[in-house]
This record gives sequence, C-alpha cells and structure tokens, in this order.
Amino acid sequence: MNVLVVNGPNLRRLGTREPEKYGTTTHDELAVLVTQWGADLHLDVEVRQSDDEADLVHWMHEAVDAGWHVVLNPAAFTHYSYALRDACALVSAANLSLVEVHLTNPHARETFRHTSVISGVATGTIAGFGVEGYRLALEAVARRVG
Ligand code: DQA
Repeated sequence: MNVLVVNGPNLRRLGTREPEKYGTTTHDELAVLVTQWGADLHLDVEVRQSDDEADLVHWMHEAVDAGWHVVLNPAAFTHYSYALRDACALVSAANLSLVEVHLTNPHARETFRHTSVISGVATGTIAGFGVEGYRLALEAVARRVG
C-alpha cells in the first residue's frame, strides 16, 4: 500500500448526513470509488475512518513508519486539533505527500470553518468538489510519486 486515505469524525455518516452539503454517496461507496481511482493510477490505497482523534494521530505515525502518502479529510478536527496537526507535520517532514481534502468549501461556510490548523503542514488542499476531491488528491499524489 502506498496511500492511506483517512476520514475523520462523522464522515461514516456520509450519505445521510446533511446530503444537501455532503452528497448522497455513503462512506462504503466512497471507499470503493477511492480504491478504484487509486488502482487506475497504479496506487495501492487503503481507506479508514474514525471519530477518534487518537486513531487519526496514530495512523499518521503509522504512515510515517511505513512510508505511505496520506489523503486526509480531518473533518471537524481541521479547525482545532493541534495534536493532529503535529502528527501531520511528521508526515510532511518525512517527505511524504499529505493532501488535505474537504467535500465542501469550508471558506464558503461558517466562520469557525475558515481556519484550518492542518493546511500549514499539508502539501496542499482540495476543497469544494465533493467526492471528486479524493480523485483529484490521488492524482496529485500519483504525479508527485510518478
Ligand atoms: C468537512 C468540512 C468540515 O468543516 C466539517 O466539520 C466536516 C467535513 C468537509 O469534508 O467538507 O465534517 O471536512
């Protein structure tokens, strides 16, 4: 595996969670799409989701140790988790790509969503393109490793 795709809190509810904002694709369907998009790009992809900050921190450590690139939708942790930011900084410091993805465009939403504590340590950010954003993120990773 060379790309770990991680989704943060509440994203397991995709499909039924505020579909007017997040769309109707379920998390299981997203995982199938992302895995297929990865395979098309010759990337071996694993998709994980957790509501638990510690899981996300530990998965960043695992990515560093294994040399995996990361596509991360930090969800609400985007806006306040310094612990996750510090873990993401380790991924970037290991010369691995870390692409921050958001289904919506947080800058077009409530003010508290305008701050990302993750962006400053990410390779780049893709926001506002729905599930398509994950494909764009994988393409960015593929171009960087290819
Ligand atoms: C999100 C945006 C966040 O503000 C929100 O807390 C989420 C999802 C997105 O994908 O648009 O849970 O990261």
